[in-house]
Amino acid sequence: MNILIIGSGGREHALAWKLKQSRHCEGLFIAPGNAGTALCGTNLALEVSDFDGLSQACITHQVSLVIVGPEEPLVKGITDFFSDNEATKHIQVIGPSMAASQLEGSKTFAKSFMQHHGIPTAAYKEFTIDNYDEGVAYIRQHSLPIVLKADGLAAGKGVLICQSQLEALAEFELMIIRSKFGEAGKKVVIEEFLSGIEISVFVVTDGKHYVLLPEAKDYKRIGQGDKGLNTGGMGAVSPIPFFDDTLREKAETRIIKPTIAGLQKDKLDYKGFIFIGLMITNGEPYVIEYNCRLGDPETEVIIPRLKNDLVELFSAIARQELNTIQIDIDERAAATIVAVSGGYPGTYETGKAINGLDEEPLEDCIVFHSGTKPADDTVVTNGGRVLAVTALGSNIKEASELAQYMMEQLYFEDMYYRPDIGYEFP
Ligand code: AMP
Ligand code: GLY
Repeated sequence: MNILIIGSGGREHALAWKLKQSRHCEGLFIAPGNAGTALCGTNLALEVSDFDGLSQACITHQVSLVIVGPEEPLVKGITDFFSDNEATKHIQVIGPSMAASQLEGSKTFAKSFMQHHGIPTAAYKEFTIDNYDEGVAYIRQHSLPIVLKADGLAAGKGVLICQSQLEALAEFELMIIRSKFGEAGKKVVIEEFLSGIEISVFVVTDGKHYVLLPEAKDYKRIGQGDKGLNTGGMGAVSPIPFFDDTLREKAETRIIKPTIAGLQKDKLDYKGFIFIGLMITNGEPYVIEYNCRLGDPETEVIIPRLKNDLVELFSAIARQELNTIQIDIDERAAATIVAVSGGYPGTYETGKAINGLDEEPLEDCIVFHSGTKPADDTVVTNGGRVLAVTALGSNIKEASELAQYMMEQLYFEDMYYRPDIGYEFP
């Protein structure tokens, strides 16, 4: 069959790399893709929210399976767009409906879903301009730190952890009165701070059944030792040693099963990935957030550990027969290290030539591209996050060391990466 992947990051390169290995995959297209996805299939110069262009491309190239990488097209309703359109309704889209994507697209929707279905999460209240004064009073009596969340998508910047009431009041005003995050922040969730260890859990569902993919941890801060500014993710590891059978069982019973049952009860059409950000507090799992897609860079460690044929997994979703699929995981650990442009997550330059990509990667290493593009006979940087180098090893330390060794074979001007990915797992 012919397949289209929507997106242009390391996540999409990892999906393309994996799909390419399936005997069921004939034509592979990526829109818009990067220089790495161009090695796996054909890049199409279409933006992720150009639904007309994307559906037309699917018709032209006889695509029967679409995998949506990022959240933006999902929250804007790409799945409904394809299913409501006579010419594209036969195409299977891996990604939830617009209504179900609100689990990521709206924090208030997600919080009320969890409250309604008894899924453990931080206590919260929601505010708009209409109950602004109540919000101020709520902040004044709130314990510290106070977590403020813009309701809508805010490019990963909509969560603020405030260390004082004064700071929280200022941010609350900026969001609601001064539109700091535009429409996305006109509604605000104020919630209790949960301390503990964060972990990313990935579920695939056909709307009735689910399977659990390997869990992962990502490293969001720019600096070593988790210091400095937040980024899209500087690296990831999988599996997570402390996510043992007891914790997995708790996560499945208290969170994953009620989530799938809740989607069914609320008639939310969901065929795709659910990425659940969990906080483990005193051994108990709480939901920090839902995402309606895979994570980046988590995908770059999950996908290399997955032994199943991805097209067969997606076909089982289409038939609502995920219960017939047995997930087969490589026992080895994986680590991915992300190389970024100097200056990221602030301003940075692009268009720098990348050296070392012509060489065959070392054994057990994969070089995924994030922000890259082909230029003449070379590949140049084209974003903040540029490459994600994944390695497999007998444990996280070995995998991380090998990924770092592989990274040392690559170079672009002002390249930066964290050498301590997985540091807490000796
Ligand atoms: P989100 O945009 O929902 O992923 O939130 C960004 C980050 O903020 C999360 O990955 C957590 O590290 C942190 N965070 C969000 N909500 C809470 C909370 N209630 N308690 C502690 N940390 C939180
Ligand atoms: N790595 C976090 C995310 O993809 O949202």
